[in-house]
Amino acid sequence: HGTFVHPLSLTDTEYLHDALLGVDEAGVIAFVDNGPVSADEVEGRLGERGWAEAQVVRLGKGEFVMPGLIDTHTHAPQYVNLAYGQEFELLDWLQQITFPTEAKFADPAYARRTYEDVVDRVVNSGTTTACWYGTLHQTTKILAAVCHRRGQRAFVGKCNMDRNSAPSYQEESAAQSLADTEDFVAFVRRHCDSPLPPSSAVLPSLTKRFAAPTSLVQPILTPRFAISCSDECLQGLGEMMDRDEHLPLQTHLAENPSEIDFALSLYPGVPSYTAAYDKFRLLRRNTVLAHCVHLSDDELDLIKARQSGIAHCADSNFNLRSGTARVGDMLDKGVKVGLGTDVSGGLSLGILSAIRAASTASKTISFHERDSPSKRVASSTGSVTNPDGVTRPAGFFAKQHLSLSALFYLATLGGAQVANVDERVGNFVVGKEFDALLVQTAPSSPNAANGGAAGSLGETGSIEDEVRAALEGAPTGTRAEAHNPALMTVEDESSERVFEKFLFSGDDRNLGSVFVRGRVIGGARPLAN
Ligand code: GUN
Ligand code: FE
Repeated sequence: HGTFVHPLSLTDTEYLHDALLGVDEAGVIAFVDNGPVSADEVEGRLGERGWAEAQVVRLGKGEFVMPGLIDTHTHAPQYVNLAYGQEFELLDWLQQITFPTEAKFADPAYARRTYEDVVDRVVNSGTTTACWYGTLHQTTKILAAVCHRRGQRAFVGKCNMDRNSAPSYQEESAAQSLADTEDFVAFVRRHCDSPLPPSSAVLPSLTKRFAAPTSLVQPILTPRFAISCSDECLQGLGEMMDRDEHLPLQTHLAENPSEIDFALSLYPGVPSYTAAYDKFRLLRRNTVLAHCVHLSDDELDLIKARQSGIAHCADSNFNLRSGTARVGDMLDKGVKVGLGTDVSGGLSLGILSAIRAASTASKTISFHERDSPSKRVASSTGSVTNPDGVTRPAGFFAKQHLSLSALFYLATLGGAQVANVDERVGNFVVGKEFDALLVQTAPSSPNAANGGAAGSLGETGSIEDEVRAALEGAPTGTRAEAHNPALMTVEDESSERVFEKFLFSGDDRNLGSVFVRGRVIGGARPLAN
């Protein structure tokens, strides 16, 4: 009961005040009472619905609930080499930094230690759904197992790499790569299964809606990129997708100019990098394409025609000097877009940072449009349907930097579309599963167990009193002050302002509880399940 913030479209964020949202035992949203429902009315309303026994979480000042964040592209093993190799662009960085690190994941004990650490940190940064890359090793099964045990919603992929990689970090043959992939997929489906429990009141309508497996953790095919996969390997993966329409795929596309030249040199007769993947029937509605920084209009049209989605990894695109992806154009074409951290091309584990990087990238592009407008954008006419299903004037998104609503959409519902879980999560709609964050922005938030320490807001003393209190008060830097100080001044602000402040300056300390399918799986001050 309290404030809920969720995306309705790329241009519309809904703020619900004094609302009452019910989550059933299966973790499915059973009702959303838009409110206002007063604090006194809550028990009565629950009684009317036959929910008298429900556990009630009352959100107070500075607290709100929003959908969980979705990372559509990240690499778990690269947590280890995060930040190393600032001097490199992509291909040299892979050879010098990343492949030697990933090679260490042949060791299962090393893999388990690292994967437990990185999944913990990513969950606590608010990522409720992640599209993970492991390495080429079977130890990627450990990554899937860690996500499963932790309760994160995850797509986990063992990399296919049977050429142009490194002598000590490459698969023996396409046949071996494909056989290991089949084994990996079977393992994840057998051992990391968590179907929706049948206790959900709305389950019958849900089961009708998707034939796809409802497990939280699912395998995803992961040809690293065209350069590192032989034709035979890509052909085999296309055939696996032919046989199994529920098997998704993730790969990298058009990230860096040298990478594109190398990829094109491997496919002399093929018109583009995108067309090379299409040749092997790898572009489908459940395909996630990371980066897409340097795409022609024709390539974007092909991606739209195949209904594939794009993981926009702005932080990585800056850091590896890859470029700035034209997200506005993607949205104007109706292509699904989500955000990716791309650790460790990107430097931050959480999607809050990806939101800020995506904002900066779009503002950078907007300088260019302002200073030398492209004819293409200026001359766009007519109307188009954007990926949120809304029809807007052509060029709508290319003409401006990404708004708060657009960024929020990309980080939640947009990412859910890219990962093909938008019928399950992404916003608060009855029948969807409750993947959410309880955000706490004020020191006096009632659900912040240790947050009451700084409860002196509103009491004012003389300058002398306050100076004395500042000198003699509790030492700073203790756990009791675990709230982000940047957020302690918002008590009288509107929810819109608090939300904007959180999105652009909040961090893990503000994430009290992280929920997946209705269950608390992490957070700085997690509520009891
Ligand atoms: N292209 C192929 N492999 C990688 C990788 O690990 N990171 C990034 N950013 N791009 C890639
Ligand atoms: Fe990547």
